[in-house]
Amino acid sequence: MTTLPPSSYHLLRIDSSARVQGSHSRELGDRFERAWRERFPNAKITHRDVAMQTVTHIENMTIAGMFTPPEQHNAEMTAALVQSDTLIAELKAADALLITVPMYNFGIPSSLKAWIDQITRIGHTFSFDGSNFAGLLKGKKAYIVIAYGAGGYAAGGGFAAANFVEPYLKFLLGFLGFDEVITYNDEATNTNPAGIAAMHAAIASQMDATLEGVRT
Ligand SMILES: Cc1cc2nc3c(=O)[nH]c(=O)nc-3n(C[C@H](O)[C@H](O)[C@H](O)COP(=O)(O)O)c2cc1C
Repeated sequence: MTTLPPSSYHLLRIDSSARVQGSHSRELGDRFERAWRERFPNAKITHRDVAMQTVTHIENMTIAGMFTPPEQHNAEMTAALVQSDTLIAELKAADALLITVPMYNFGIPSSLKAWIDQITRIGHTFSFDGSNFAGLLKGKKAYIVIAYGAGGYAAGGGFAAANFVEPYLKFLLGFLGFDEVITYNDEATNTNPAGIAAMHAAIASQMDATLEGVRT
């Protein structure tokens, strides 16, 4: 049983499939969102679609600004950090994070990586004291829906070694301080409709079970 404070209603949802119609990760994200609203009727849900509204890649001046103390920022650095500031504030304001993500070429879409590169920032979402790193996003849970065209990505499966989505996102969010990262793996989306329907039903049950365990 997980206990969250009453403020734990604010969910930030990040969608990253380049597909709008027929996207399995988005469909299951909608399912999760409905369950979240049922569980927390007063929930605030913030949406960010990194496929439809492109996050800029970090550039030379973004990195210079990230590693320069704020009081020494010049105008160029300040401007280059606006998107990072906005995305980090949005993430910090949320109590929980939902990411919906397709596997592209065994990894995450570049649109989601661009978001990650903007929010993974020293002094803001993680710290380093010269010897140790610490995550600064404490007291938050993350839920990740992953859609894979093929099957066999779970531990022991034929493609397990090629899963650079689930282990990466789990590690990254843990590094940033998330208390818990829960994944829903929607495998073999390129197969027959009956198999897909069965997989979606199983994931819907997993989602309900996950949220059943969250108490305010
Ligand atoms: C550009 C691209 C690359 C893909 N690469 C992989 C892959 O490496 N492994 C895999 O199992 N499926 C791969 N797929 C299939 C997608 O993971 C699958 O269609 C998934 O359902 C996409 O998510 P969506 O339904 O939310 O759009 C790829 C699809 C696209 C469009």
